[in-house]
Amino acid sequence: MTWTASAPSNIALIKYMGKEGANQSVNPSLSMTLSAFRSTVEIERRKEGPDQWQPLPGSSPLRAESTARFLEFFQKLKGEVPGSFLLRSGNNFPSDAGLASSASSFAALTLAAHTAFADIRGLPIPPAEELARISRSGSGSSCRSFFSPWCAWEGDKIGPLPSRLPDLVDLVVVVDHAHKKVSSSEAHRRVRTSPLFADRVPRAQQRMQAMRQALASGDYRATAEISWAELWDMHSLFHTSTPPFFYFAPGTLAVLRWAEDFWEKHGHGPITTIDAGPNVHLLVPAEETARFRAELKDFQILESGA
Ligand code: PMV
Repeated sequence: MTWTASAPSNIALIKYMGKEGANQSVNPSLSMTLSAFRSTVEIERRKEGPDQWQPLPGSSPLRAESTARFLEFFQKLKGEVPGSFLLRSGNNFPSDAGLASSASSFAALTLAAHTAFADIRGLPIPPAEELARISRSGSGSSCRSFFSPWCAWEGDKIGPLPSRLPDLVDLVVVVDHAHKKVSSSEAHRRVRTSPLFADRVPRAQQRMQAMRQALASGDYRATAEISWAELWDMHSLFHTSTPPFFYFAPGTLAVLRWAEDFWEKHGHGPITTIDAGPNVHLLVPAEETARFRAELKDFQILESGA
């Protein structure tokens, strides 16, 4: 018997950075779901043997530590469920594009495992909010992949956010393919050493409130301004940690400068953010996608709607 589930990735505009215990975020965060960037997990029940992981056909193998983390979380989800399982997973987006796959893959694993276990036990699949909380303990940002197009995560509350913004598309400008040197887990630990961390939580809380309002009233410009401030805030934490670290590549700064100039020239532009990586996410109104793609024709672009 085999069960399959897929889940989307998400991009945070208010960043989850700094955690305690089992991925309890020190501050609220807010994201747009990226429905075109998905992970799929297939779970096959076998007669015997240890649980194992394999890539889905056509997908790249995981690194040893990622395989161990994936299987370890599956053991936790499995609890007392008897039997041996073969897990297969893969992403539909390139693994070297610097897009975080832990959000989509842990969300897909949580959903696939609970679909399988609910079936085996003859019980219903838990509701999305519970699945999101469970998934969070495997990968914090994965909890935001259960709600679309906008999701807020505040303490133990994870749920959808109302928005009057136009439909947006994320144009990911891929400026670097290198594997990141500092994992997000390490970043969560190290930012606590930054002198800027002392008042990081109130800053994020304030922006969260302002962005909730901006979304609810459809204020595109305010969303872009808050997102811009938040991107610099998170990366400034990285740059002022002990020891300091950074994800920017030369192309990152070129795209940031382009975005700034575009706003200055047109009084309009993309909602810009960057994850723990070098690539720049430009969220633009869906109906203006072609215009922005033409402006960025010299770059490699990946595209996802919410
Ligand atoms: O879920 P983690 O532990 O990979 O942390 C993700 C942290 C950021 O991607 C940098 C920000 C976020 O909110 O997604």
